[in-house]
Amino acid sequence: MYLTDEEKQMLDGTEGYAVQKSMQILVALGESFGAENMVPVASCHLPGASYKLLGEAGLMFVKEMGEKGGRVRVFTTTNPTSCDNSMCRRLAIDKQFAQAQAEVTQAYQRLGIVTCGSCTPYLIGNAPRLGQHAAWGESSAVVYVNAVLGGRTNREGGPSALAAAITGRTPNCGMHLDENRKGSILVHVPEDLCGIEAFGTLGYAVGKIAQTAIPVFDGIRASVSSDELKSLGSALATSGAVASFHVVGITPEAPDLKCALGGKKPETELHYDELMRSETIRHLTLTDRTDDIDWLYVGCPQCSLQEVRYVAELLKGKKVAGGVDFWVCTSTPIKELAIQMGYAQIIEEAGALLVCQTCPAHAPHESICQARHYQSLTTDSAKMAHYAAGEVGIPTHYGTTEAVVRAAITKRWEA
Ligand code: F3S
Repeated sequence: MYLTDEEKQMLDGTEGYAVQKSMQILVALGESFGAENMVPVASCHLPGASYKLLGEAGLMFVKEMGEKGGRVRVFTTTNPTSCDNSMCRRLAIDKQFAQAQAEVTQAYQRLGIVTCGSCTPYLIGNAPRLGQHAAWGESSAVVYVNAVLGGRTNREGGPSALAAAITGRTPNCGMHLDENRKGSILVHVPEDLCGIEAFGTLGYAVGKIAQTAIPVFDGIRASVSSDELKSLGSALATSGAVASFHVVGITPEAPDLKCALGGKKPETELHYDELMRSETIRHLTLTDRTDDIDWLYVGCPQCSLQEVRYVAELLKGKKVAGGVDFWVCTSTPIKELAIQMGYAQIIEEAGALLVCQTCPAHAPHESICQARHYQSLTTDSAKMAHYAAGEVGIPTHYGTTEAVVRAAITKRWEA
């Protein structure tokens, strides 16, 4: 693998242990993926910010990098953690666990990392531009960067994203190369497709078929929102390992169908229809019990301000039913804006929780479910429904945001 003189110096230890260790990780990775050289990165996002996922060994590694002189060279943010510090007791988070999480956050801060605890850092300032290289973890954010922003990142793990942040480099392979960014599956979509759940269902159905290929969507209405694209991407990256997609006439690398497909014929062409939609909803709704409503969740990926506002509108003047916990998850800066705009007050007055910094996949959900006696999870997110059934291991109700809010109020599921 070709290295510049500066990169060679990083590798031989001239710039200290943390830089050397990081460059060793990147060279090993680059060589295993056949990268010819490194590229400079403009931004990084670290997936491993939760103590639950990082564990003691991961925490030691991050601490060591800071103690041995590591500092990030580019704007770097962190994914959700294990707890929202302001709600530990309400969310049944153990004190010792919260302390370990605080150590993770401090260790990252020592490296110069912005510990935003968000899976949507692109909504709060970390947003690589068209053509810029980046090193991001968190599958939903990776697909957003590649598809919606036109930045270039592979699906990084924690160590490789941290190594990229410390050296300012990443191996030039995979999604960094033009030839790997073209679509090969053409999906025709009805123009009236609308809403977070509708785009999540589409993404989940197509991700299963695409796996690592890049789908091209044709027919999506011009007014599609960035929240709908966020939902589409996160679901694609859940049922498959999709790292990007194109929407003809909308996403930056797909001004027309020819560009999106790189001038080639699609390998697969399909029409997204009612059968695909209903089968996907059935797959993600893993219970027919309408009375098991106790844990409701919107904000996977974490809510934008528009999404928080919409939930506030739906909840205005209403009350969440007794025995129901309704989490509305977002990032801390968006919560601050929601407070300023009065949305947070409406949500809290209704009895729902505006939760930051965490989500059920990153929090210690076993102890939370036990302490709060949760029997099911009800959500408008295809990704969260998938993880609730698989990782959290509880039955799910999956439907529109309106249906979730209705269930929070009536304690019954009517999709
Ligand atoms: Fe974000 Fe957690 Fe969903 S990290 S994408 S809210 S599983």
